[in-house]
Amino acid sequence: MADNHRKPHAIIIPYPLQGHVNPSVHLAIKLASRGFAVTFINTQSIHHHTVKALDQKPDGDGDGNGSYDIFANVHRSGLDIRYTTVSDGLPVGFDRSLNHDQFMASLLHVFSAHVEEIVGNIVATPGEGADFLIADTFFVWPSKVAEKFGLLYVSFWTEPALVFTLYYHMDLLRINGHFACQDCREDPIDYIPGVPPLQPKDMTSYLQESDTSSTCHQIIFNGFQDVKAADFILCNTVQELEPGTVAALQEQKPFYSIGPVFPEGFTRSDVATSLWPESDCSQWLDTKPPGSVLYVSFGSYAHLSRPDLEEIAHGLLLSKVDFVWVLRTDIVSSEDTDPLPDGFEQELGDRAIIIPWCSQNAVLSHPAIGGFLTHCGWNSILESIWSGVPMLCFPLLTDQFTNRKLVVSDWKIGLNLSDRNKTTREEVANKISQLMSQDSGSKFKNAVDALKTKLEEALMPDGSSTKDLDQFIVDIKDRIHQKGHLSNDA
Ligand code: UDX
Repeated sequence: MADNHRKPHAIIIPYPLQGHVNPSVHLAIKLASRGFAVTFINTQSIHHHTVKALDQKPDGDGDGNGSYDIFANVHRSGLDIRYTTVSDGLPVGFDRSLNHDQFMASLLHVFSAHVEEIVGNIVATPGEGADFLIADTFFVWPSKVAEKFGLLYVSFWTEPALVFTLYYHMDLLRINGHFACQDCREDPIDYIPGVPPLQPKDMTSYLQESDTSSTCHQIIFNGFQDVKAADFILCNTVQELEPGTVAALQEQKPFYSIGPVFPEGFTRSDVATSLWPESDCSQWLDTKPPGSVLYVSFGSYAHLSRPDLEEIAHGLLLSKVDFVWVLRTDIVSSEDTDPLPDGFEQELGDRAIIIPWCSQNAVLSHPAIGGFLTHCGWNSILESIWSGVPMLCFPLLTDQFTNRKLVVSDWKIGLNLSDRNKTTREEVANKISQLMSQDSGSKFKNAVDALKTKLEEALMPDGSSTKDLDQFIVDIKDRIHQKGHLSNDA
């Protein structure tokens, strides 16, 4: 029996990857700040890595279900965010980076059974109840789980609207022969509603690959079937960044652009989210002139081939530019943890600092940073724009090719580095010089500063993202009232 006087209650389940957990945590805080109760469910594996990175001890029983609450600091400001964990179907100690396909298969086939159990328990707890489920669009089960427990389904899309719409209109790509046709078509895709003509090479890797039998393909096919039944879609984009695409999607679904979803203070988050311990390079950066240092990172998930890594390393050396390089220990593979060329670090001297992980927002917003060599993860792009840092794009997989198109062709806030041909060290050095030079780089810097202003404006009280979030809150409360879950004063 629903308690009509409680706050509206959301259950949030992020995709268990760094780039999805980060915006989901800050979405939870935004909603709790607006009077919602939130139950945030991380996988035990994500929880375990977060706690380990913080140097907090899990409870020691090996299941990663330590009692540390990542939201403890926000409780002090009175926000109602409850935190719990669930199994993704695999042991906590399992190497998900090395065994990526098995990890994805578990998310595809096994995870929903664990989710059903935990959501069922929350819904059945006397005095608790829940009204809606916010789950990542890539999950294949949210509409079914929501329906089973009488919840509304809010799909959270953590990538650009352009990527969403390409997957959403996969049927059009199939009909027109652009789907899974990497080498057979070069003519533009000019039939996706709201999207200006797009080159096939700018589609996500999964839409280009001719073999569509992978687990990731099954996840995308099923996730984008499931999202058709979503009641609402929240997207971590900004309407002014992609106006035509967003407007066309809004004709199809209740679609809200609420980005950029960042920590309140950007560089200081009340909630720890990093899956690896953060190294602090601020003292080193303090010694460098403004705009002189290149930040290099390939995100949390993708791997670089050894030959590409070597060309990038030599290109960085040749460029003579100072740099901070985030080199995850599994960047090539967790079985090849020392992939840099022999003598590389010695040759660099004080020119560079190489670290396994950092607080990216803190680094990007340091005045010494003048450019970002990036894999084009969507969070990285939003964070770079917010920090006024132009980009050099080296996409590796998934949405990163489409994101690069936005950066390089649409917004002109960066340069492209990677093409299907092998990247050479000379090209790496040359592009770094173009980006970092005061002359050739100034057009990118001016363009990114203009876009930064648009993002700031979107988050102002009358800005587009604030208005969209306000509208979502009105709309979801209406639907909850229609279902008779809440009294009108909630
Ligand atoms: C992938 C997709 O490519 C991306 O578009 C999607 O939204 C999430 O999954 P990922 O490799 O996780 O990307 O990159 P990105 O989206 O940039 O997210 C990485 C996050 O980790 C960012 O929020 C970044 O600030 C953070 N990070 C990265 C750190 O905090 N420290 C680091 O050293 C590197």
